[in-house]
Amino acid sequence: MKTKLVSGKLERVTSELLVVFAFDAAEKKQPAKETKPAIKLLTTGNAVAEATAAILSSGEFAAGSCETVLLHAPSGFKAERILLVGLGKVTPSEVRKAAGAAVRFAKPRKLRELSIAIPSSEGLDPFAATRALVEGAYIGDFDPDTYRSDRKDQSIEQLSVVSDGADQAAVDAGLREGVIIGEAQNFTRSLVNEPGNVMTPTVLGEKATEMCRQYGLKCEVYGADKLKELKMGAFWGVTKGSEEPPALIVMTYEPKSAPATPVLGLVGKGITFDTGGISIKAADGMEKMKYDMAGGAAMIGAMQAIAQLKPAVKVIGIVCAAENMPSGNAMKPGDVQIAMSGKSIEIINTDAEGRLVLADGLSYARQLGATHLIDAATLTGACVVALGMVNAGSFSNNEETYKHFSDALQISGERFWRLPLEDEYAEQIKSTIADMMNTGGSRWGGAITAAMFLKEFAEDTPWIHLDIAGVAWTEEPKPWIAKGPSGIPVRTITEWVRSYAK
Ligand code: BES
Ligand code: ZN
Ligand code: ZN
Repeated sequence: MKTKLVSGKLERVTSELLVVFAFDAAEKKQPAKETKPAIKLLTTGNAVAEATAAILSSGEFAAGSCETVLLHAPSGFKAERILLVGLGKVTPSEVRKAAGAAVRFAKPRKLRELSIAIPSSEGLDPFAATRALVEGAYIGDFDPDTYRSDRKDQSIEQLSVVSDGADQAAVDAGLREGVIIGEAQNFTRSLVNEPGNVMTPTVLGEKATEMCRQYGLKCEVYGADKLKELKMGAFWGVTKGSEEPPALIVMTYEPKSAPATPVLGLVGKGITFDTGGISIKAADGMEKMKYDMAGGAAMIGAMQAIAQLKPAVKVIGIVCAAENMPSGNAMKPGDVQIAMSGKSIEIINTDAEGRLVLADGLSYARQLGATHLIDAATLTGACVVALGMVNAGSFSNNEETYKHFSDALQISGERFWRLPLEDEYAEQIKSTIADMMNTGGSRWGGAITAAMFLKEFAEDTPWIHLDIAGVAWTEEPKPWIAKGPSGIPVRTITEWVRSYAK
């Protein structure tokens, strides 16, 4: 998708589809049904209001979130069609979704080009609105049907962002950032979408290398020898049952403008397929476990965005990529593995493999000088039980770094809910033979005991853990996003990093 900025009056825009956002300004009283909608268009000038007057007065369009109505051959307009898209509320998050819905409206109708008017409203920052609009358009443009023989590539070729000429600098900057972040998020989605037979640890390493070369980052991809050299017994325990070699991916962003500290360490779980290992999973739904590398893919996408946004802060991105397979060489329940940090782990369940690879990833990030850590992983089914598929789980051992994270959420619009880390939970992972077990003695609080396990390896470094098991894959298509990989939490990680350069 190419993007460009067009300034001028909406009626003069030549386009197959001109998109304008609207909302219901009526004060909501109870019962809601009795409140008459008062639809407001987020445009400057009256032309769109005049052309759509009949629709607006018909009561057929309530301007609810992502609600659409189409008008052909609007009078007085050069555009062939006007699409009104509702915003539930006038916020950047709603703008992001509405732009995605507009793109997903256009795609199956064989429209390859569209123009979206930047919403103008007093309560909306033009930079944030433009950025969210462009991000949303990219998100909407992604479809996962890569391997379908009847795939009709319906991608949008040209997106024009239409400005009324005000706030030019803010709009320009919003467009630029929106493209960078939208592309990074879709890059992550494309990695997560690949099946396990294609996206092996080696291929994930190649994709990271390619991205780093393109955007000027340093990248190293290490194999089994390095794991042994670093004494990464936890990571090794997971990978040793597979014929596919592991990949320890290390991406470095070190701009000259950055001070010596902080050094931010991003650590992602890159299990390219999780069978569960010897503690094998049930067949039902196992195919989904190709997305068990979504945390790692998010770190690769975030590094791509960081390389282009160029914040003045050092960042190290680490992905621990492996396949979790049962075999004659596989790790067994009861085995004891010694992690890179020297801590011993009694393996109770080989399906709790994510925390093992991350344990060594976190230790390695610290060894490389990370002063602040963030990890992302499709870590536990328990997190999905706790929070469903709306919010992902977040955890932290440090209030200050978590403040950076919650501020980043305000910008990214992604949704995380903080869960507790308290010493009592660690009782559940105490082992008689080793320093800890890799799963809790009971299944209660499974997302928390997994986080408590990781906390042992973050040690005294400020750290955030993101359990994205429930949100990395969108199970039901939505008006603004296809079913499939979501690319969460690329946007938040990127903003968290940028917050340290402010
Ligand atoms: N990759 C899974 C977690 C997962 C579950 C991701 C559902 C996405 C959707 C993880 O490796 C796993 O298998 N966790 C186990 C841990 C248990 C054995 C303590 C789980 O959640 O059941
Ligand atoms: Zn598992
Ligand atoms: Zn897993």
